[in-house]
Amino acid sequence: MSHKNLKNPFFRSLVDNSTTPMQKVFIARPIPEPALSLLKKQKNITVDVYEKDEIIPRKELLKRIKGVDAVLPILTDRIDKEFFDAAGPQLKIVANYAIGFDNVDLKEAKKRGIIVTNTPVEEAAESVAEHTIGMLIVLAHRMIEADVYARAEKYKGWSPNHFMGYDLRNKTLGLIGLGRIGKLVAEHAVQGLGMKVIYTDMKRDKDFEKQFGAKYLSKEKLLQTADAISLHVPLLPSTKYLIDTAEFSQMKKTALLINTSRGPVVREKALLRALRTGRIGGAGLDVFECEPTIDCDLTDKLELKSFKNVVLTPHTASATIEARSAMSKMAAENIIAVLKGKPPLSPAK
Ligand code: GLV
Repeated sequence: MSHKNLKNPFFRSLVDNSTTPMQKVFIARPIPEPALSLLKKQKNITVDVYEKDEIIPRKELLKRIKGVDAVLPILTDRIDKEFFDAAGPQLKIVANYAIGFDNVDLKEAKKRGIIVTNTPVEEAAESVAEHTIGMLIVLAHRMIEADVYARAEKYKGWSPNHFMGYDLRNKTLGLIGLGRIGKLVAEHAVQGLGMKVIYTDMKRDKDFEKQFGAKYLSKEKLLQTADAISLHVPLLPSTKYLIDTAEFSQMKKTALLINTSRGPVVREKALLRALRTGRIGGAGLDVFECEPTIDCDLTDKLELKSFKNVVLTPHTASATIEARSAMSKMAAENIIAVLKGKPPLSPAK
């Protein structure tokens, strides 16, 4: 290319990118690779990452997103009018680092023409499904209680009656919500543990029923029939307190409730009452109504943390290297696509 041609903006853009404006990306918390390397490889993208491994303070978030073209937030960042105003009209995409996106005001984003994406990767569904099965086994075999006992050096000799739990084979697992995660839980429960599966959802899936011998039931019938109930619904106005006092009163007294979806799907007060009165057999909770606080009412002595038949994990159901890396890749690829003017891979819907 001759020197003369380089005066022409079109030819110049072929040899360097100096005519294309740089696009700015802000990542609200350090996340596993490969997002950062993928974004940094792009010629016209600059990346700023909040440096501390903590939830970014709101004020700092609003300051750091000013003038950026893309934001990669995590599920604890509230993405609302205030956020969009602080970012400015050039913002093109919010690539939420999560399967769920109840932290994002989708309507407001749509009104402003801002694309919102999530990370519904197969690896995250698998991780949450395995976590769910893990909680079921831990509860049925009373592993946490036994672990606490063993650590306290109370074990003085084998006993035929100690920490008697029960097997999951031939027990009935009730799934509320049959998305990708619910289906994987069913697969592990049926093929791995020999459980029976019943489910309820807005629509029936006859292929799923055939594949896993699953039965579609109303929510009421499912609650009455299941030995264990697992929740796999997004948090929406219609799913808030989906499990409340009335629902607990329909469950078997031995029923286990597993929640790896979102905390407010279960009314904590009703769950506490059910545990206190022996209305249910136990609970496995990865999410909490007042998250990150485990117990909403800190003055209550009979709080979630005090029950032996409750297993608690701090929203870590998708915390496997496979899941978090795949989520990272998808979030970055969504940003790269949108900043190149292409459609996103996984629009939130
Ligand atoms: C975690 O809860 C997620 O939505 O990815």
